[in-house]
Amino acid sequence: MAVPKNTVWPRDPHTAAKHDLLKKYLQPWAPILLSRNETITYAEGFSGPGIYTEGEPGSPIVAYEAFVAALRHRPKNIRMVLVEGDKRRAAELQEQIARARERHPEEVNRRISVQSFHGECHPTLLDRLRISGALRQPLFVLLDSYGGPDIPFALLQQLAAHRSTEAMVTFAPAFLTRFAQKNDGHREAGNAAFGGSEWQAVFDQRSGDKFTFLRDQYRETLRRAGFTHTLYFEMVDEGGRVLYLIFGTSHEKGLEKMKEAMWSVDSDHGVRYRDPRDVQQQQLALELEPNTEPLRRILLEYISSCPRGRSVAELRHYTLLDTVYKPTQVTALVRQMRDAKDVSTEPHKVTGETRVLPYTPHPEAGPRHDQGALF
Ligand SMILES: C[S@@+](CC[C@H](N)C(=O)[O-])C[C@H]1O[C@@H](n2cnc3c(N)ncnc32)[C@H](O)[C@@H]1O
Repeated sequence: MAVPKNTVWPRDPHTAAKHDLLKKYLQPWAPILLSRNETITYAEGFSGPGIYTEGEPGSPIVAYEAFVAALRHRPKNIRMVLVEGDKRRAAELQEQIARARERHPEEVNRRISVQSFHGECHPTLLDRLRISGALRQPLFVLLDSYGGPDIPFALLQQLAAHRSTEAMVTFAPAFLTRFAQKNDGHREAGNAAFGGSEWQAVFDQRSGDKFTFLRDQYRETLRRAGFTHTLYFEMVDEGGRVLYLIFGTSHEKGLEKMKEAMWSVDSDHGVRYRDPRDVQQQQLALELEPNTEPLRRILLEYISSCPRGRSVAELRHYTLLDTVYKPTQVTALVRQMRDAKDVSTEPHKVTGETRVLPYTPHPEAGPRHDQGALF
């Protein structure tokens, strides 16, 4: 999609998927964190106008509605800090927030403070978060630009310096692969976003590998900034442009909840997924019963890499941290792998302590009939 010029523009399918993901993450995020904190903060650096041409809500309104639900039975507080660089869109956003408030009872609205600003994402957002004291409390930051590279590494670093901060960033690789090789200014912008020049090795990659190379470089950038766990979500807009939403957190619980949100995104939005560890890079549809064939390949390799095999608990942890799959998918898969004689389990029954080893036939089993002697 070309960058829109009007205050409000049509919502495309990948934006609908992004909003679905955001809603499904914030719905559990807010109650979990409110159970232990008086105040939590949601922030955006590229807020948009809060509405699309057919009246669909923008991301700040999606978040507002999720927070109303979270606060209904909890006397706690949510702070929203919103920054938008276009004056007309910033004004429209204020109007949309006022309308959202009209839909809900005053006792809930009172507990959601919305501070919205017209300004450059950086440094306005950090300044405002500092002034309000939000950096010392649980904070979710959405940096949803048109794909950049326009989010300074320094901003990511200062956000990640606080362990209770999580961030979701939109990253579109095409601009850099198309224009940065021959343009010093664009390469500089890339360096500022990645916090270094290693990403420029993209120019030596085969054309089919360039996007995934940049995606992995950007995940590494988030890790270097200080987010210990990252997860990405791949979207394709109606012009065929690939966009990644990359999530960074320092909490395994955040990672787990984001995966649950990801796998429950409405599959009608046409979003697909690939596990970076899967050598075959198989495309996965987001569906209730996801295709676990790539996870089977990934786990088989992981099991074979240790002579003592792995416990089911280890496989679950590995699945959470290193794949796109959920730990809850592991037990059923191990059973299937055992029954298909891909692996052996000790003991036979699959629990967290069960060890999973590369398949060895049971010593008492007779010769396999399909291996009869030829001579
Ligand atoms: C992709 S749109 C945001 C959409 C919104 N998050 C949503 O999902 O409804 C990006 C927004 O960032 C704004 N923007 C672009 N550059 C900016 C900057 N440097 N600082 C702040 N806002 C900026 C644009 O005006 C636009 O409204």
